[in-house]
Amino acid sequence: MKYSRPSVKVKPPGPRARAIISRDERVVSQSNWRYLPLVIKGGSGSFIEDVDGNVFLDFNSGAATQALGIDHPEIVDALKKQADSLATYQPIPGYFYNEMVVDLCEKLAKVTPGKYEKKVSLGLSGADATDTAMKLARWHTKRKRFISFAGSNHGLGTYGALSISGYSAGTVRGFSPLVPEVTHIPFPYPYRWDGGKEPGEWVLNYLEDQVFRTTVPPDEVAGLFVEPIQGDGGVLMPPKGFLEGLQEICRRHGILFIVDEVQTGFGRTGKMFASEHWKIEPDILLLGKPLGGGTPVSACVTRSEVMDWPHGSHVITGAGHLLGCAGALTMMNLLERERIWENAANVGRYMKDRYLKMQRGYDIVGDVRGVGLLIGVEMVVSKKAKKPGLEETRRTCLDAFEKGLLTAYDGLYGNVFRITPALNITRELARAGLDIMEDAISETQRAQRV
Ligand SMILES: Cc1ncc(COP(=O)(O)O)c(C=O)c1O
Repeated sequence: MKYSRPSVKVKPPGPRARAIISRDERVVSQSNWRYLPLVIKGGSGSFIEDVDGNVFLDFNSGAATQALGIDHPEIVDALKKQADSLATYQPIPGYFYNEMVVDLCEKLAKVTPGKYEKKVSLGLSGADATDTAMKLARWHTKRKRFISFAGSNHGLGTYGALSISGYSAGTVRGFSPLVPEVTHIPFPYPYRWDGGKEPGEWVLNYLEDQVFRTTVPPDEVAGLFVEPIQGDGGVLMPPKGFLEGLQEICRRHGILFIVDEVQTGFGRTGKMFASEHWKIEPDILLLGKPLGGGTPVSACVTRSEVMDWPHGSHVITGAGHLLGCAGALTMMNLLERERIWENAANVGRYMKDRYLKMQRGYDIVGDVRGVGLLIGVEMVVSKKAKKPGLEETRRTCLDAFEKGLLTAYDGLYGNVFRITPALNITRELARAGLDIMEDAISETQRAQRV
């Protein structure tokens, strides 16, 4: 490995980073998120180097895309080998056939939850996987409507996915009309719940007793989209029985149960798929982010009988690109060979325990939740008031960055750290990052009192 610890030589953003950012501002769409002024030059494993020579430990792993770090040698080798072969030919499977596409779809059919015959439609982003599922669900059921959740992110880059998502008002302001017939219901948020009944039960009742009785006939609903753990919404864990309850409602009304594991899939939560934590079997499963081993690959996996649409009804020219297939097959083989989800479960337990200690020790750490290496740390102004700690979050994130740690935050109020390191991170590196983060939290709390 090239790096063994973070090292910040110049306060970021340094002069080279600043120069590139100012060119970027002139020519690159400024719609992107960019929560930190980091200009990446390279990296290795769980480390990223910026253009000024600063080295950061990455607790975000490229928005959870880099399951095995930045430059896993076997993935890099597989990509190089593919580059020497048929790398520049695009329209497979859009126009023609190739064995690697079949290998990848067979592998996905085998490893995903549900012991039934499956078919796979490949794509390039989580958003296009969502659009694929929308089209397929309408086609197969001959119904028009969808149910989804407030706070969900199923993709923001296409109109279909944006319409299914309930991520934030800022992502839809100015862009309507969206795709019609999507009804959003609340996702249970136990930390901020004061509604009496247990929140999962409340939402299930709300869907059946209010939504289905008043505005949305269930026999017109094609599919219900749900993230098993609502990731960008603030790492919201489903209460006990909630996902099973949703699945039961879907089955009873002939609604396709569409589970989005773009963020939680492939070992992130300490199991190969988050669905395995509960007794659920998606009718349609959405995959993306880490799937391509760092290349953009997504997939919509479903029961064979559901994928009954005709030739020519759904084609994405560059989907199933052979470089992506090589990256995805190698990534999945590595996960299985090294049972990487076990490391995610073990290091994740250690990290969550440390964050729980921070919650006990600092008044600005309101809640800690999650499983495996998907951990949410909710920042507040004070535990008693529970008011979302926006400034506390921003300041902690920036301070950690200046000390050499990359973190990201989002959630309904923008005050939840979403901790998603690479799944093969060691306990020692996790400890080093946690020390930096605790330092930053401690300084933020001290500054708050001054
Ligand atoms: C659960 C989930 N689904 C879908 C997406 C969208 O993926 P993409 O940005 O590749 O379109 C995301 C992105 O964060 C996500 O977290």
